[in-house]
Amino acid sequence: MLQAIDLTKRYEDGQLALDTLNLEIRPGEIFFLLGANGAGKTTTLNLFLNFITPTSGQALINGMEVRRFPLETKREVAYISENVMLYGDFTARENLEFFARLDGKKRVTKNDCYCFMRRVGLQEEAFEKRLKTFSKGMRQKVGLACVLMKETDNILMDEPTSGLDPKSASELMQILLHLRDEGKSILLCTHDLLRAKAVADRIGIMKEGRLVMLRTRDAFREDDLERIYLDYMQEAVL
Ligand SMILES: Nc1ncnc2c1ncn2[C@@H]1O[C@H](COP(=O)(O)OP(=O)(O)OP(=O)(O)O)[C@@H](O)[C@H]1O
Ligand SMILES: [Mg+2]
Repeated sequence: MLQAIDLTKRYEDGQLALDTLNLEIRPGEIFFLLGANGAGKTTTLNLFLNFITPTSGQALINGMEVRRFPLETKREVAYISENVMLYGDFTARENLEFFARLDGKKRVTKNDCYCFMRRVGLQEEAFEKRLKTFSKGMRQKVGLACVLMKETDNILMDEPTSGLDPKSASELMQILLHLRDEGKSILLCTHDLLRAKAVADRIGIMKEGRLVMLRTRDAFREDDLERIYLDYMQEAVL
């Protein structure tokens, strides 16, 4: 479970990046956060990850405030960013082993790593190759395998389909649906309106740090998400 309570971030230079966000992402829910460049999406994720300190309000993971329980909440959340941070000199399998150990998993076999890499659709011949020889999409898949391996209740994703080819992006969406059915809370930031409409249980549109729209997927059956999105982009934030 992910909860934002009046969550607000003003950066040191005075920029109000997130303005009193109130949001709850329940177990078994995929939430897509949309919004223009600079709307505050990554800031929201960074607050849940405790990478930055809120100016006011709270971010909670499984009911624990991330500021007060940094280690406990870190264990309950997995994260993948657009530019996955992995070790170039390690092979794909070694990266998985390394991050699994860092996450406190003691027994990770080669076979476990292979299973997760197969699940995200990385080609077998890449399993034992060094990351520095990988394309962006291949790195993204290794990052995703790390996320799955952590087996947390909560998953945060920042532009996870960026760099993935259409087949891999579609496979990622299938994985997300499966994780949702397993009861995970998933918060995903994206510019991909089509996938949001296809996969999200709820969609939020953020503008200038404010959540200006929140709807369930059913509400989009008749409305065109792209039109709604563009309408919100044109309106002034009050
Ligand atoms: N470290 C920082 N210091 C100062 N301002 C920042 C910092 N990080 C982000 N901002 C500002 O906060 C606002 C929100 O940025 P954020 O990265 O959250 O947007 P975003 O919605 O993720 O955008 P994008 O779609 O481009 O990834 C922007 O105005 C940005 O310039
Ligand atoms: Mg961003």
